[in-house]
Amino acid sequence: MKAGYAKREDLFITSKLWNTDHAAEDVRPALEATLGDLHTSYLDLYLIHWPVTEPQKKGVRIDPGIRETWTAMEELVDMGLVKNIGVSNFSIRKLEEILSFCRIRPSVNQVEVHPIWRNDELIAYCNDHDIHHGTSIIAKSSNPCHIKSNLEDVLNFELAKEDYDRISAIDFQLRLVDGIRYLRLEGPYTSMNDLWDEDTTEAWRTRFINSIYKFPDMPTVQLSSGHRMPILGVSTWLKQNVQETVELSLRSGFRHIDVSSQRGNEAQIGAALLEVFSDWIVHRPDVWVTGKVDYLDLCLLPAHNNMTAFKAAWTTMEALVDEGKLRCIGLQDASIEQLAEVMGSARILPVINSVEVHPGNRNDALLAFCRCQGVHVMASSWPATAYMLQHKDVPALLRKPLVNNIARSMGKRPAQVLIRWALQHGTSVSPKAGSPEHVQGILDVLNWELSGDDYRAAD
Ligand SMILES: NC(=O)c1ccc[n+]([C@@H]2O[C@H](COP(=O)([O-])OP(=O)(O)OC[C@H]3O[C@@H](n4cnc5c(N)ncnc54)[C@H](OP(=O)(O)O)[C@@H]3O)[C@@H](O)[C@H]2O)c1
Repeated sequence: MKAGYAKREDLFITSKLWNTDHAAEDVRPALEATLGDLHTSYLDLYLIHWPVTEPQKKGVRIDPGIRETWTAMEELVDMGLVKNIGVSNFSIRKLEEILSFCRIRPSVNQVEVHPIWRNDELIAYCNDHDIHHGTSIIAKSSNPCHIKSNLEDVLNFELAKEDYDRISAIDFQLRLVDGIRYLRLEGPYTSMNDLWDEDTTEAWRTRFINSIYKFPDMPTVQLSSGHRMPILGVSTWLKQNVQETVELSLRSGFRHIDVSSQRGNEAQIGAALLEVFSDWIVHRPDVWVTGKVDYLDLCLLPAHNNMTAFKAAWTTMEALVDEGKLRCIGLQDASIEQLAEVMGSARILPVINSVEVHPGNRNDALLAFCRCQGVHVMASSWPATAYMLQHKDVPALLRKPLVNNIARSMGKRPAQVLIRWALQHGTSVSPKAGSPEHVQGILDVLNWELSGDDYRAAD
């Protein structure tokens, strides 16, 4: 404008009231900040971004408050600060709500429209209710040739009707700007139906996500409590890249995350869980977490030689199950005697005993006792690292010729053979995976088996 290429009245400037500023008292200050940044005294169009209020100060609470926000928007028009007001990503039901009380009608609904999301019904509703006729388009480019071409080369020709119809008939439809991150189990939007008045997006999205991620079928074991636990978990006993690794593991198909509070990395694990849950690629009920979240699927109590203290701690664990903070409780490194004693006085029985099990320490007697008592065994130290620390003269299992020969004959890695052995031995296992290759390598063990001879040889 300063250089004289255009006058303010030649331009049509649109901006959005961001989700964080939807409270009535925040609307005018937000607009004034925008006007200041844009060096203009008015906007041509101001849109409410999403029917979702997300006040930063109030954490993750979402409160639509559409009437409150819209009334404050109308006051901006009264003050001459904005010429038109509208909305962005509003469904038909939400537009109906505004139309039921508004003094000034919304001029525009900015929504996703393209050949694989034609949005026909919403466009028809808007046309019928005088909310912008047809569609306009906002091209975005930082490339000078594209900018020029988007301006000049699209206004001087038309698609032949036949071509337009062929593009418009593309069968595959998928809403991409779906707002799934605004859905919360506690509401106010719990489903796509709440947000978009339809359920098909959720089904399409699930199908689409499954086709991209190709999650493996994860086998589970039924614990004595009735809960089903994925038999292959991923350990988070990692020195670095904890958040990235947990996210990668979940996106690759792991559904069991094993957390150790001693490692002090629960915040990073929590951040990874939040990230995948808010993407809705994985749902909270589908993941088994032994760690710190809204509730724990499993918490293990380490064995203690002082049986009085050990049993008192177990009573506390039982109380946490009563409060709904823990779904299942188990023991770690409990001997037959300790297990028997806890079970003798327990109100809620341990569902798991996590103990060292690998071909160098099969722990047969303890495993047999657990099996008899319906206590599932989770194998710790599957590559025998703890064992090795105590018996330095024993060659590491991963380097043992027998394990390497079996691995070579199957085109697998020694670690995969040992993880597979643990599964075939009836235990569940949560190996540590510090790289995408390891994550895939661990999941790969779900696709094959050790032959009876190889399993027995490793045994
Ligand atoms: N209401 C909402 O929730 C919402 C959501 C998304 C977007 N929007 C609005 O829509 C606007 C556009 O966003 P968008 O999501 O449509 O854009 P986008 O996908 O983020 O960007 C457009 C892409 O197309 C490329 N491109 C542009 N012109 C091209 C050409 N002539 N030939 C080849 N490539 C070309 C650009 O690359 P180059 O830079 O290399 O050209 C860019 O990568 C945004 O600014 C926003 O205001 C709104």
